[in-house]
Amino acid sequence: MDTSSLPPVQEPERQYYFLKKAKELVQAKSEELGRPLTACTTTFGCQMNARDSEKLAGILREVGYVETENEEADFVIYNTCTVRENANLRVYGRLGVLHGYKKKNPHMKIALCGCMMQEATVVDKLQKSYRFVDLIFGTHNIFKFAELLVSTLESDRMIIDIWKDTNQIVEDLPIERKYAFKSGVNIMFGCNNFCSYCIVPYVRGRERSREPQDIIREIEGLVKDGVVEVMLLGQNVNSYGKNLEQPVTFAELLEEIEKIEGLERIRFMTSHPKDLSDDLIRVMAKSKKICKHFHLPLQSGSSRILKIMNRRYTKEQYLELARKLREQVPDIALTTDIIVGFPGETEEDFQETLDVVRKVRYDSAFTFIYSKRTGTPAAVMEDQVPEEVVKDRFDRLLKEVQEISKEMAERFTGREELVLVEEVNGQMEGYVTGRLSNNHVVHFQGDASLVGQIVKVRLDECRGFYYMGSRIE
Ligand code: 5AD
Ligand code: SF4
Repeated sequence: MDTSSLPPVQEPERQYYFLKKAKELVQAKSEELGRPLTACTTTFGCQMNARDSEKLAGILREVGYVETENEEADFVIYNTCTVRENANLRVYGRLGVLHGYKKKNPHMKIALCGCMMQEATVVDKLQKSYRFVDLIFGTHNIFKFAELLVSTLESDRMIIDIWKDTNQIVEDLPIERKYAFKSGVNIMFGCNNFCSYCIVPYVRGRERSREPQDIIREIEGLVKDGVVEVMLLGQNVNSYGKNLEQPVTFAELLEEIEKIEGLERIRFMTSHPKDLSDDLIRVMAKSKKICKHFHLPLQSGSSRILKIMNRRYTKEQYLELARKLREQVPDIALTTDIIVGFPGETEEDFQETLDVVRKVRYDSAFTFIYSKRTGTPAAVMEDQVPEEVVKDRFDRLLKEVQEISKEMAERFTGREELVLVEEVNGQMEGYVTGRLSNNHVVHFQGDASLVGQIVKVRLDECRGFYYMGSRIE
């Protein structure tokens, strides 16, 4: 390719043009400094962000940066989250530290991207008080990273590129996977649900599904590359395919993915109870590859609160879904997300949440204190619950959830299960750590040669949140 010509207009060709250009710039700088340039990618938030970070890391490696986990690097990028306020506060805190590093290394470039950057108040604040940041972009134009990188390397000014929304999905950019044997795969982007507490629809835009053939092609490629487990990612996977020209359901997509030879395990995240179909449960029940784990966010057990949250299901409907899942998919692990302290939540409402927790008996649950997100309907609701009340409810909920998950985990003790070995155990010498189909973690004796393999393990002892096991040859 001739880089003196104008950049192509088409994607992804345009980005490949800028990749080449960035490579030349990185090489020149590296020769000038007489050392390789390093880059560090730090991820906040969910699995979706983790996958996006693999795209960022793929591009940084492609253009010649050496990857490092040390933030004293030549290029540092934070892929941010804004779902709860404490995620934002952490970013501001750590930016202060980065500023210190930049004073020592004037070649350093600092970039910020992800959900938090989609908020105008954040970008204003960065422009006013964090002038040392070199590049700011959002969630919709992450595919443009190579191009933005070139602009940043060629300029000393702060570069800001935020899109309000997009209907573009750019395929086929370089990706650097964190694990050789498992991978996230985006099946859709954005969310149309507008739960009244949630900022995601504002920062991730409207729902867009990828074409099934693009997803299949990507997974086939991953499998050829050694991947045995995929995690299908979307904010609301149960409404996958509705907006495609030729609509496809999530259950149908799963059936197609199941056929891919060499793929051993399929996971997905996240499901919305209102869109969970009987078809999906049927497909799961007969599947050999879909893992026996369902993450079904509850948010609240009170139908009254669910209504104000705009969740569009009742406590009873939720309980019925959980019952069906447990009945039709034996041994399935159910996990959830719960928010305490949503505006107007009374002790009675909270008791309803506890009641669901006791009835469903979750294998594990993520519990969150409600966080006010500016711009969402809930932020301006009256009756925000006092902090001490929320804290007390949170503690009670956590205790209940933990006791139940411990008891639930006990039910698998003594069993022999297939385990995908994920890593050499960092704490116990001579041990490896793997995951069961139901997402539970087990440690057992083994070495690095097992990583990425699926092996049979006896679960000897349950220690609350994990098992100690032994391999069966
Ligand atoms: N406050 C607290 N928790 C929230 N979540 C989303 N928005 C908020 C908020 N404003 C939680 C939900 C969701 C999970 C990813 O984060 O439980 O399922
Ligand atoms: Fe947020 Fe609700 Fe969309 Fe999940 S489904 S991302 S909680 S708006």
